[in-house]
Amino acid sequence: MSVIVIGATSPIAAATARTLVDGHDRFVLLARRPERLSGLRDALGDGADAIRLDLTDQATFAAAQEAARAAIDRDTVLLIAAGSIDALEAAPTDATIAGRLIDVNFRNIVTFATPLINRMREIGSGSIVVISSVAGERGRQSNFIYGAAKAGLTVWADGLRHYLYPHGVHVVTVIPGYVDTPMLRAAIGDKADRLPRWLVGTPEGAARRIVRALQNRTPRLWFPRIWRAVMMVIRLIPERIFVRTGL
Ligand SMILES: NC(=O)c1ccc[n+]([C@@H]2O[C@H](COP(=O)([O-])OP(=O)(O)OC[C@H]3O[C@@H](n4cnc5c(N)ncnc54)[C@H](OP(=O)(O)O)[C@@H]3O)[C@@H](O)[C@H]2O)c1
Repeated sequence: MSVIVIGATSPIAAATARTLVDGHDRFVLLARRPERLSGLRDALGDGADAIRLDLTDQATFAAAQEAARAAIDRDTVLLIAAGSIDALEAAPTDATIAGRLIDVNFRNIVTFATPLINRMREIGSGSIVVISSVAGERGRQSNFIYGAAKAGLTVWADGLRHYLYPHGVHVVTVIPGYVDTPMLRAAIGDKADRLPRWLVGTPEGAARRIVRALQNRTPRLWFPRIWRAVMMVIRLIPERIFVRTGL
């Protein structure tokens, strides 16, 4: 009964792994900086291994893929949490940064995860959680390259659920709005402290909802819930008006 985590240093991923410790005895924690995972490994017990995976460096893929593949069993949960907004503001004018954001947030996730997903399909059971973002719901000036990658990731996760349905593998697409993690702090800084609580979730709250979604075989999970309505309104704004906003 294994859990494989891509991007295990994410607080959302770590909280989800901790919540899954009841009922799972094998954890493969893949992270760009696995040395940061000693606390999580201790919490998860003897069956937890931390292995380096940098989604911008394909040389790290083979060893991480081998370890993850070896852990796949009938009850595997594959949690895809890695994501990056590094140098987001420079991305519209810097092709290298733009390409890197697409690679980390979409292209190399698909490249890395496909062999693992093939194995889960062969076995015919298990679950996959893909953490995307509300940024993928509408292109906007402040984050459209990250958003384009996340839009791709959302469509990939939704399509994967459809594709894997006859094979007994369930896929949950997670669409977070604001969650209080280093990524949110990097994006909006201390503004996060001034936002109403119902707009900003906690990693532990996200973990509880993810585990419930796994149990209930929920297809799509918005977190915090209010973001589903927020994005519905944002999607409805006519493009001619939207281009005049600073969103
Ligand atoms: N927090 C929010 O408000 C929010 C909103 C919408 C969506 N999300 C999504 O939620 C997921 C979890 O993010 P978080 O909020 O927990 O933020 P986070 O703390 O920044 O976590 C992001 C994770 O991605 C990893 N990562 C970044 N670049 C990587 C690379 N090149 N190779 C491998 N791993 C890499 C990070 O590893 P390092 O520790 O090495 O950097 C970290 O484990 C992400 O997919 C993010 O896009 C978050």
